[in-house]
Amino acid sequence: MIRTAITEMFGVKYPILNAGMGRVALPNMVAAVTNAGGLGVLGAGSSPPEKTREMIREVRALTDGPFGVNCPLALPNGVENAKVCLEEQVSLINYSMGRGDWICEAAAKYGGKAVASVTTKKLALSAQKHGCAAVIAAGNEAAGHAGPTTTFTLIPALAETLNIPVIAAGGVATGAGLISALALGASAVSMGTRFWTTQEGPMMQGWKDKAVELDITETVISDKFDGIPCRQMDVPGARKMMNAKVLNVFDVLGQSFKISQELNIPWWKLTLDTFKRGPAEIEGMMRMSQMLKAHTHTMTSNDTSKGFTAVGMSVGMVHDVPTIAELMARIVGEAEETKRRILGTSNSAAY
Ligand SMILES: Cc1cc2nc3c(=O)[nH]c(=O)nc-3n(C[C@H](O)[C@H](O)[C@H](O)COP(=O)(O)O)c2cc1C
Repeated sequence: MIRTAITEMFGVKYPILNAGMGRVALPNMVAAVTNAGGLGVLGAGSSPPEKTREMIREVRALTDGPFGVNCPLALPNGVENAKVCLEEQVSLINYSMGRGDWICEAAAKYGGKAVASVTTKKLALSAQKHGCAAVIAAGNEAAGHAGPTTTFTLIPALAETLNIPVIAAGGVATGAGLISALALGASAVSMGTRFWTTQEGPMMQGWKDKAVELDITETVISDKFDGIPCRQMDVPGARKMMNAKVLNVFDVLGQSFKISQELNIPWWKLTLDTFKRGPAEIEGMMRMSQMLKAHTHTMTSNDTSKGFTAVGMSVGMVHDVPTIAELMARIVGEAEETKRRILGTSNSAAY
């Protein structure tokens, strides 16, 4: 057991969360993390709200422990999914890409906790002001929407500024990483890359093998994926998208039809909502449609010469594809070993 403000808040054994990765952190992954003593987080992504409700109930059938749901508010279905989480009285609602004071207020009424994902001190302070119980802070090493500064600087800066616990994201894949984050002032870690490269991750084996091959330097970051700096695997598909000056309009159109079906939103409404966001966001949404296509490829094909998916720099620390139960036991063992190495004791300290 490692006691922190987060393990106390949620009543879990270990201060370890899986990142709420849309289309990746599915019920089997979430339940496996919670059942191993961590805090599983479901990725609602842009799922149709009824699908999100179904997934929440599926997690409940697989575990009696607490779990969370990640809802990116700016994506289609994001706000609706947060409302489903409130109706279902989920223990932790992790929102990103939007203002969530209404989520904080509504969750508090049933004892739920709202936790915002942030990348800067300014965003963290506004999350605290809006009533968040904690923040998940992503440094520049992180997969997906990475922050402008490193986890090693962001975490202590937030720990000395905020009155609420900080959960560190980005660059953590081992027990030594967990202990380092706690030493810097975090109360837990949230890992994405390390959790999808497990037996439970839904990507095809070829992509997991590719992740095992990659070094810490083999990621790319660009705002050409969806309009915001976003870190992905350095593979030909990602390079092609980063370097594409003009998107193929027919491809985008075809993809938007498929997405409207997947999200259960009429095509005209999806298009209208996208256009209402203004010219700057239209290109971002068009690019995101291409990114989703590349990501779908990783779930259906082992061919790594096309498609791509998000990984953080921590991919260089992924050397195998264990089950989540094996991974959790290993991380906890490594954390104990790290404490012994640096403190010369195995006493369980409170962070
Ligand atoms: C495949 C993948 C999908 C992701 N999807 C989401 C998402 O839907 N919502 C979100 O807030 N973060 C998402 N992230 C980012 C994570 O929340 C987290 O910040 C990141 O994985 C931390 O870095 P790490 O991968 O080095 O652990 C995703 C990450 C990965 C690897």
